[in-house]
Amino acid sequence: MIFVYFILTVFLPFILTDDECGVTVTKCVNTNYRTLSGECTNLKNPNWGTPQSTYDRFAQPRYGPDGTIRKAVNGSDLPNARLVSRMVYQDNTLPEKRLTMSAIETGQFVAHDLSFAFLDGNTGLCCSASQQWLEEKPEQCRSVKIPENDPSYELYNVTCIAVTRSHTNKDFNCSTNLKYDEQLTETNAFLDLSLIYGLTEEIHKTLRAYKDGKLKLDIRNGQEWFLQSKTHLECFFSLSTDRCYRTGDSRVDQNPLLTIIHLMWAREHNRLASKLKSLNPNWNDEKLFQTARQIAIAEHQYITYYELLPLFLGRETMLKNNIIHKKPGFINDYDENIRPHIYNEHAQAGMRRFHTMVQGDVDLVNEEGCPYRNANLRDVINKPHWLEERDNFNGITRGMNNQPAIAPDTFTRREMSSFLFISNKPVGADIISIDLQRSRIHGLATYNDIREKCGLKKAETFDDFLDHIEPKKVKLLKELYDHPNSVDLLVGGTMERVKEGTMAGPTFNCIMLKQFYKTRKSDRLWFENSQSGLTERQLSEIRKASISKLFCDNAVGIKTMQKHGFLQVSKM
Ligand code: HEM
Repeated sequence: MIFVYFILTVFLPFILTDDECGVTVTKCVNTNYRTLSGECTNLKNPNWGTPQSTYDRFAQPRYGPDGTIRKAVNGSDLPNARLVSRMVYQDNTLPEKRLTMSAIETGQFVAHDLSFAFLDGNTGLCCSASQQWLEEKPEQCRSVKIPENDPSYELYNVTCIAVTRSHTNKDFNCSTNLKYDEQLTETNAFLDLSLIYGLTEEIHKTLRAYKDGKLKLDIRNGQEWFLQSKTHLECFFSLSTDRCYRTGDSRVDQNPLLTIIHLMWAREHNRLASKLKSLNPNWNDEKLFQTARQIAIAEHQYITYYELLPLFLGRETMLKNNIIHKKPGFINDYDENIRPHIYNEHAQAGMRRFHTMVQGDVDLVNEEGCPYRNANLRDVINKPHWLEERDNFNGITRGMNNQPAIAPDTFTRREMSSFLFISNKPVGADIISIDLQRSRIHGLATYNDIREKCGLKKAETFDDFLDHIEPKKVKLLKELYDHPNSVDLLVGGTMERVKEGTMAGPTFNCIMLKQFYKTRKSDRLWFENSQSGLTERQLSEIRKASISKLFCDNAVGIKTMQKHGFLQVSKM
């Protein structure tokens, strides 16, 4: 009897008992080194937040019949996603007053660390090769049909933006207790640099040097670079010498600023491993690797929460909501009952608002802080090899810490809303149409639903939106939608007046605050918990980390930069 009791109490918590999606876990080892998949971060629910878990929901979803895209209140189709993009998200170059592009791109890196919708099939099959709308297409396609008279697309006779659906729990018969379809994410939900370490043993093994605790990076022209790959589907190759990069996340190559942030963290890992080896010459590779990884993740969590997010969400609000703390030493606020899973509304709406803040070109800047060249986004997207040409890497690294972001409003650069992933085509995709279509495929609750959840007044008439949206934008909503209850979260949220000291209005701020609270509280190994494995002294050193230090320590050609890389020099 005692034996049975022992077996039940000691092993049962580690045996997967429900049908949650995510990896299958049979046993946890209670250590303060993280697993790659994030399994066993929560010892009671060991597969919480692991790859291919469901997103969580802030509010009940709204789908049409059989999980299709919902209809407007009057039963008609919602306004065409490209039409909304064209009418609401026009081009503008108004610069953000304080933030540099390095803040926005670190935001993208953080967004990628937390989630990655698991797409069903090949998006490429969802329009014809010449970007034409297909009446007959694979079942998983949810492409956007471009309306007539579109100024960007009509000229080139392009009628289709390719979008595919995302996988849900139903596809894998998991999380069957949910009453609705819930999409799956490919990454784990933890802020753990899985982007550079990989999520599975199989990938991870190919990324490690297995010597001196280091990641395997190539030395080319005297600097560490990612390993190269010729087989990566997402890269655009023009010359036979062009290459993609290989690291823990396939999105590494998407734009050069994002690639640089990936590279800074991989180099930081190796820098930490070298320092640890010189202090502890008798440590073996594994001990050096795991300790360097633990410190790098702690620095990443610190920079994200204490340097970046206060600029996005407001420092005082974050303090008030216990997302950051002033107290020295460990905070120890882990709560094993909080799920780490990412809110669908956060990933498909709140965090995507930053797509409107991306510059349409990237500045190259010299040591004196003067821009000397620039490149259109379309010419550098999915071409990481471009970074290794001429002085591009140093120029862009200085540039991203110098160039202002675009102001947070509905305006979006055409590089993002017409010329995205253009490759050798005459015109590209539109991120706004894709975002809106994705948010509908994911059945996000409406703007009005989430307003109510966030304690704002639920609008009965369009004019009730005037509390947070300018009259001329409310007028646009009236033209596009039949009823206040039809308005998409993405559209209403982006239209809201930006709250002073933040990058969004009350609805998106509310979603993001709730998410970032959940992300820290649900992580047993969070750097401010004593279970993280860090000592108090290490913790106080981690609190000296900064984005500028990350660049200064790891970008070999950068001699000087401002103390706060996320802030423009003149506004410090
Ligand atoms: C040049 C810059 C960028 C490009 C080209 C880009 C492009 C994309 C694309 C193509 C997707 C997937 C669309 C889909 O099929 O649903 C995506 C998703 C996303 N992006 Fe961006 N993006 C950029 C910058 C950013 C920034 C700055 C942020 C945030 C600070 C961000 C946050 C997100 C989020 C949260 C998702 C959804 C993640 C998920 O799948 O759960 N992106 N982006």
